[in-house]
Amino acid sequence: MIKPEVFESSESLHEAAAEYLIQCYETAVSDHDSFHIALSGGSTPKKLYQLLSKAPYTDKIDWQKVHCYFGDERFVAHDDEQSNYRMVKESMLDSIDFPAKNIHAVNTSLDCAPKSAEDYEKVMADNLPKENDQGVFDLVLLGLGTDGHTASLFPDTEILTVTESNCASVYVEKMESWRISITFPVINRAKHILLLSENVTKADIVKSLCEWDKPEPNYPIQRVQPQHEMRWYIDRPAAMFI
Ligand code: 6PG
Repeated sequence: MIKPEVFESSESLHEAAAEYLIQCYETAVSDHDSFHIALSGGSTPKKLYQLLSKAPYTDKIDWQKVHCYFGDERFVAHDDEQSNYRMVKESMLDSIDFPAKNIHAVNTSLDCAPKSAEDYEKVMADNLPKENDQGVFDLVLLGLGTDGHTASLFPDTEILTVTESNCASVYVEKMESWRISITFPVINRAKHILLLSENVTKADIVKSLCEWDKPEPNYPIQRVQPQHEMRWYIDRPAAMFI
């Protein structure tokens, strides 16, 4: 597991994340004239999305060249308060001129989560740039749960061992909810991965991850084996035990 970069405040963490995202955007656009990003859900990235929708950051991005995907989604309607699509829409998409055709939301109106995952696998296959016939994200944003999960790759679930698909569904017992998530193969192939963790609630898991000295993974996030660049940004409260 990589070492985290510590930022003194939440604001400086999200500013650094926005700056890094723009670096990744510029690299991707110069390479293939588009930028394909998997957005993370939950609460941590909201500030980043809000920053990106405002000057000076929004002025550095040609949104017509951006394709946004969802690293994971709850199997709920897009207007449900649990929906990651709704969170991203309200935090960012509603405030910028983002081309609707480039918003690749998980279709959660299908009969069941497995069908949504199957459909999303095709969405990624149809839209992501390919390398060796495999879809590759330019940037995958990830969050970190206190149990070490990332996206919807939760401990003790079968989705952790999925290797043949880039997207799968999972029933999360403790949340009594179905989720759709990208899987480790497509995360690991990403050109860039940015993991964001902030506030004191994450201090324990940050400590556990930094102190883990065995080769085998103990937490899902440790199964991320980046083939290119991965960064982990945390704020001072999340770093209090390291
Ligand atoms: C989700 C996320 C999930 C999240 C972590 C951290 O849909 O909930 O994708 O993986 O990143 O649970 O959530 P917070 O940022 O709210 O702490």
